[in-house]
Amino acid sequence: MHLTLNYIETKDKIKKDISIDDTRYIKLILSIEKEIYNKFNSVISTDDSLTRQLVSFQANKNRPVYRWYKFKEGFSAELVLNYIKKQGLNEKAKILDPFAGSGTTLFIASEKGIESWGIELLPIGQEIIEARNALILKATKNDFKTIKTWILEKPWNDHLKEKQISILKITENAYPKETEKKIKIYLSRMEDENRNIQKILRFALLCVLESISFTRKDGQCLRWDQRSGRRIGAKPFNKGEIKTFDLAIVSKLKEIIQDTTEESEDDLFKENKNTNNHGKINIIKGSCLKELPKLHNNMFDMVFTSPPYCNRYDYTRTYALELALLGAGEDEINKLRQDMLSCTVENREKNLLDINPIWCKAIEATNNNKLLKTILEYLESKRKNKTLNNNGIPRMVKGYFYEMACVIYELYRVMKKGGKVYMVNDNVRYAGASIAVDLILSKIANELGFNIEKIAVLPKGKGNSSQQMGLHGRETLRKCVYIWRKP
Ligand SMILES: C[S@@+](CC[C@H](N)C(=O)[O-])C[C@H]1O[C@@H](n2cnc3c(N)ncnc32)[C@H](O)[C@@H]1O
Repeated sequence: MHLTLNYIETKDKIKKDISIDDTRYIKLILSIEKEIYNKFNSVISTDDSLTRQLVSFQANKNRPVYRWYKFKEGFSAELVLNYIKKQGLNEKAKILDPFAGSGTTLFIASEKGIESWGIELLPIGQEIIEARNALILKATKNDFKTIKTWILEKPWNDHLKEKQISILKITENAYPKETEKKIKIYLSRMEDENRNIQKILRFALLCVLESISFTRKDGQCLRWDQRSGRRIGAKPFNKGEIKTFDLAIVSKLKEIIQDTTEESEDDLFKENKNTNNHGKINIIKGSCLKELPKLHNNMFDMVFTSPPYCNRYDYTRTYALELALLGAGEDEINKLRQDMLSCTVENREKNLLDINPIWCKAIEATNNNKLLKTILEYLESKRKNKTLNNNGIPRMVKGYFYEMACVIYELYRVMKKGGKVYMVNDNVRYAGASIAVDLILSKIANELGFNIEKIAVLPKGKGNSSQQMGLHGRETLRKCVYIWRKP
């Protein structure tokens, strides 16, 4: 209810202020941002130990196990490990990641003997986490023997039956014909194996899907290679080497065997794997907006997470090949897109108070955020003047912060006293106005009870999109790790 009221109020204000020109709005936004920056001055600092590599997937590239699936939006295991050590957590602790992605937080916690909980909406993330967990905890010597036989015999070359895969409009003709045939035979032949082996084989296939396709994941969408025969934009695009199915899958299966057997010589093949030193991993499938409210109060010592950024990246499009392989049809993909935290221009407004009436406090804290309110007014006025490059931007930005406020409310509730939230996120910029995501979210978190312990800024910020740069000049945007403590 508060949400709607505030929105009407905002619209009315815009009617009055419609004559305020862009420069005045941007100056106003900057001055409010400065006010909040000064308020948090003592806790904002550049942290030289935070490299781009560390806060992105890059540092996982050579790390056994973590390198299997290149989840581009992930952070590194080392980053999580550093903070687990700094906080001095032991095996009795519990860690949560409400936007679990490929499960980096969960697996590094588990390695340290700590129980972890992850919530993930997309089936691709869920599948990666389950398969990795199965490989580490459940795979037997016999399972690995079977995988080795697959490597030697390459049954996808001499089997006749094919399993059909779901084809979406955006995944049509994604593979060379021969590769597509081999994928279908591989999937069909896989069904003769036990469930654990099936999981491992499906996972290996998911790991190589992009490399054997005509596509490349490119932030907001899938980019298509000119060899696909698809009609693509004016500029032809060549993604470079497109791997053959045999080469890609064999080297991935070998890598998986090598990492799992080397990593865990001592404990992987123990009779009873549940008694080894790994912490239990609990994966909850669904939206954290729906699932967090089901968790008990005061459960966690640490939350380590990175939500989608407010940057229009559409995971349901970039992961369309993987989602189709896992059986998702058009309707399911559309539903997933709407259930995601609002971060694309297609997201419709969620009725948050219908999901949980108790969130009025979170909504109020967001309503009271002067900086956000002014940014939304500015974007809304740009939309009305038809000078925004997409009309969905104001709705996305608004949805992003209101939904994140509800997530933060829940994080406060499920944290133990003294527990800390670590959040990796980027600031963004639309229509020339920089949006200080770090300050807005930290201010909301503060109003919802957290102490803002630190906003650790990466020494090197992020440039903005080429479109933004052309129109508004270069301005680096802060990339940060926020640290909030429940007193
Ligand atoms: C930045 S990624 C997290 C990556 C993760 N830290 C890793 O290292 O793999 C954000 C994740 O949030 C997920 N997500 C988006 N909306 C969600 C929601 N409402 N509930 C749960 N997960 C969501 C996305 O599918 C994506 O996997």
